[in-house]
Amino acid sequence: MAELKVNIGKLSLKNPVTTASGTFGYGTEYADFIDIERLGGIFVKGTTIEPREGNAYPRMAETPSGMLNAVGLQNKGADYFVQSIYPDIKDLDTNIIVNVSGSSVDTYVACAEKIASLKHIPAIELNISCPNIKKGGMAFGVTASGAAEVVRAVRKVYPNVLIVKLSPNVTDITEIAKAVEGEGADSVSLINTLLGMAVDVKKRKPVLSTITGGLSGPCVKPIALRMVWQTYKAVKIPIIGLGGISNWQDAVEFLLAGATAIQVGTYNFIDPTVSLKIIDGIDKYCDEFGFKTVSELTGTLEV
Ligand SMILES: Cc1cc2nc3c(=O)[nH]c(=O)nc-3n(C[C@H](O)[C@H](O)[C@H](O)COP(=O)(O)O)c2cc1C
Repeated sequence: MAELKVNIGKLSLKNPVTTASGTFGYGTEYADFIDIERLGGIFVKGTTIEPREGNAYPRMAETPSGMLNAVGLQNKGADYFVQSIYPDIKDLDTNIIVNVSGSSVDTYVACAEKIASLKHIPAIELNISCPNIKKGGMAFGVTASGAAEVVRAVRKVYPNVLIVKLSPNVTDITEIAKAVEGEGADSVSLINTLLGMAVDVKKRKPVLSTITGGLSGPCVKPIALRMVWQTYKAVKIPIIGLGGISNWQDAVEFLLAGATAIQVGTYNFIDPTVSLKIIDGIDKYCDEFGFKTVSELTGTLEV
């Protein structure tokens, strides 16, 4: 058995496999299917300071090898998280990481500050890349200056591990990654969804109420992998890779391209046990290829 432990800054993960925000609820919803404490971490649903109803239906569409969503960060707000969700998940033997979103610098800061007061939340993932909200969200993640501004403000109030989730809807993701590293981010996670669209030919209308939505699933994997590899060469902070991962081979590809840990997203909807299969597969791969620790894999792609 290989040593599967990895570190994201000061955050220690028992293995590199975690679940992606918005695709695994608060983790407890999956507890009937799998032992969620075997995971390296759970990135919980996007949380905003104020409650949000999300976008109008329809807000999901199937695509070849993927899906489009326009949920729009539906959640009951940070106070509800603190009072009603946190007590149920705080003692889980895995890392619970809150995905923090906002519509202005002030709302990101307010939400991060509230989460900072929770002893059992060791990290936040700052979502500056949501394509499905009208204000804020992706707007911050598509320019280096916007990304830097929000990370600078949150860094001042958030002392724990700060992971920044990057948008793939940019020309050069390395510019954004370097900007947030410069403002003190401990890690970057990538990618969020790609902006896409679907059309109903009978109605001659867009399928989604929001017209455009975020594309995810196996179809985005090559793009995510390319961006992880480019970012690995550009920054020193650890990278959490995601986008279309559906089996252990995909996960190993991300590690070789430069990720220290990975997240499983859309594939949880197809197979709720997939993350545990990925942990076992990575372990076997390390044994077969003579890696004593999984962290030795990171960035060892031969090019
Ligand atoms: C239904 C749905 C909801 C999502 N909600 C969030 C969210 O609240 N915050 C966030 O940062 N990403 C959210 N995402 C993006 C995923 O976390 C992930 O970045 C993206 O889907 C790519 O990974 P995947 O192809 O493995 O799903 C959501 C994705 C889906 C499909």
